[in-house]
Formats: sequence, structure tokens, C-alpha cells
Amino acid sequence: MSERTIRLHAFCSVKGGVGKSTLATACAKLLAKGGRVPVLVDCDLTGTSLADGLRLRAPAVTLLDDGSINLEAPPTGQFLSVEETRARRGRRRDALRGDGQKWKDKPLPPPYFNDPLNYAFLTGQPARVDALLWRHERDDRVLYLPSSSTHDDVIQSVEWFFGQPFDWARSFAWTLDGLAHQVPALTDVVVDLPPGIWGFPHEALVLVSTLLLGEPMPDDYPPWHAGPVRWAPNPFLVTSRDPNDILPALEYVARQRARVPSLKPVVNRDTEGLNALRAMARARVGPLLEAAGLHETLERVAEMSGLARLFWNGDVAVDGEHREEFREVTRTLRLEDEP
Ligand SMILES: Nc1ncnc2c1ncn2[C@@H]1O[C@H](COP(=O)(O)OP(=O)(O)O)[C@@H](O)[C@H]1O
Ligand SMILES: [Mg+2]
Repeated sequence: MSERTIRLHAFCSVKGGVGKSTLATACAKLLAKGGRVPVLVDCDLTGTSLADGLRLRAPAVTLLDDGSINLEAPPTGQFLSVEETRARRGRRRDALRGDGQKWKDKPLPPPYFNDPLNYAFLTGQPARVDALLWRHERDDRVLYLPSSSTHDDVIQSVEWFFGQPFDWARSFAWTLDGLAHQVPALTDVVVDLPPGIWGFPHEALVLVSTLLLGEPMPDDYPPWHAGPVRWAPNPFLVTSRDPNDILPALEYVARQRARVPSLKPVVNRDTEGLNALRAMARARVGPLLEAAGLHETLERVAEMSGLARLFWNGDVAVDGEHREEFREVTRTLRLEDEP
């Protein structure tokens, strides 16, 4: 079988609220508009879900006898309406409340990213992730896998973050591997990571770079380098114009250069232009950037009304009145570059 290339676009940040989810969603929509087949994986397990901001339809999943999701069943091809999806989300939340443990390993519908991650952690294999993908109400041809914003799910994730030993990267790797093999037309995976560059986001970036560098993985990871899939990483560190955000972001990029070589810092909602930003970066962390060969490294995305509208309206057309703005995003995110 000939090798297939899947691009892996990743969005992380030092701080929250800087535009990761906005840019990740725009990225997936632009890819789909360009005829590619992207899955947008919402890995922000800290309590914000793409299903809160976008008008998404959950898949109708196959259930086990106890009413929980059969994570080994193939897709049904059916999707709930946005209203049914909201009602189901409410029922999952209410069932978890006060009895989070009971459903911990037996998730109720609708499915979230949390569920295949748990499944891979427990079994060391991917779930049928293809059966868990959501769609937008106005079919934009993006496949979505939102995270849960239900309190008990978030608490569980936070326990993993800080408490029990949990190999996030391994579980995440199996989930990605599942997508690659179960969605044969898949060309791109876009991952929206949690805020912060320690813990899971850092491990995910290291995983991304390990794929880029072709380094060996631990034995219990998917056999990535045996083909037939080649992963081509395209990771971004999103920052605001706030120096307290840009400077630690640049410091991370410079210090992790060897470990995460393709990570690109992007200043989002910029109104000043790159010259002012670069001058500030040179004055404050210039020597560090120069040592890493990164002194001109910043990219920018302007404050854009099309991007601002995305979660406000639950959707935005990338080829409508904001077409020019989205062309700019296509260039900044290197979406038409050869992987
Ligand atoms: N380039 C942009 N222009 C205008 N508004 C933006 C832009 N990027 C993000 N926003 C707005 O900023 C807020 C935070 O963005 P979000 O993507 O949710 O951040 P994060 O995922 O990093 O927490 C949202 O209200 C979003 O609409
Ligand atoms: Mg977000």
C-alpha cells in the first residue's frame, strides 16, 4: 500500500482566551472548503467545549444494554438535530451529577473526546472514533470531536492533569491512530489543546515533534513509522499582544527548539503590525531568540470581524463577506503549503 500523508495542525497557548479554538475551527473550515477532509479534535478538557460555541449535531451512537456508548461499534451514519443534541448533553450532565464514578468508564451519549481517550487509556487500543464524530448543522464538511464541558467530566480530566499517573500522550496517540485508520479519506487532523504549555499540551507537542523527527516511540504506542500513514505536523503557539503572554511563549519556542522544532508563534488579534511586536521581542528576549535562530519568527493574525463572529453566531462562512480575511488566515497557517 502506498503511504498516505495526514497533516496534523495543533494550536496551543500559554494563556486561555487568546484564540486557539477560533483559529483551530477556522483552520478546519478552510481545509474542508479547499476539498480536504479534516477532523477537528477539541482537546481542551478544562471546561470549554466546541459544542458550546458551534451549532453541532452529535452522532447517533450504538448503545450497550446499560445505555452507555458502545465504543467498539461502527458509525450508524445518523445524526441528532442540534436541539436533540442539547437535550442529550443535558441528560448526560444530570446522570453524572452526584454519581460521576458510576459512568466514568461507561459514558452516556453524546460522545466526547474524553471517551475515546479514556477507552485508549484503559485498553491500549483505539475506540471506534469514527463513530463518535459530530457535524455542523450547516454541513461545512468538517468532522468534529468536541470535549465535554460537563463538570464531572472536567473534574476527572483535572484529576488526570495533576493527580494519578496518566500517559496522556499514549492515549492521544491511539486516538489519532484510530482516526487515521478508520477514516480512510482523512487528510488533516486539527487539535485544539488546553491552555498552558505544561502537562498535556507539552506532551502533545512533543508527540507531534516525535512524528516530525521520525524518532522511535515507546513500545505500547501505535506503530507510527511502519506506515502506511505519514504524519506531517503543523503546530502553532497562539498568543495575545500582551507582553506577559508573548514573552513566555517566545521563551518556550526558543528553549524547546530542539524538542519541538516546527512550533510557530502567532500573535492573534493584532492591531499593531509585526514591526512593533518584533521590536518588543528583540528588546526583551532577543539573545535567546537569536541563539535559537528564531529572531524574526513571529506571525500575526489581525483582529477580524469574521473570526469574532464564529462562536457568537455558531458559524461563519469562510467564502462569504469575510473571504479576504480568511485568505490571510490560510496563508498564516500555511494551509496550502506542501506538507
Ligand atoms: N482574530 C480575532 N479577531 C477577533 N476576535 C477574535 C479573534 N480571535 C479570537 N477572537 C475572539 O476571542 C475570544 C477568545 O477566543 P477563543 O478562540 O475562544 O480562545 P481560546 O480557545 O484560546 O480560549 C472569542 O470571543 C473569539 O471570538
Ligand atoms: Mg478554547
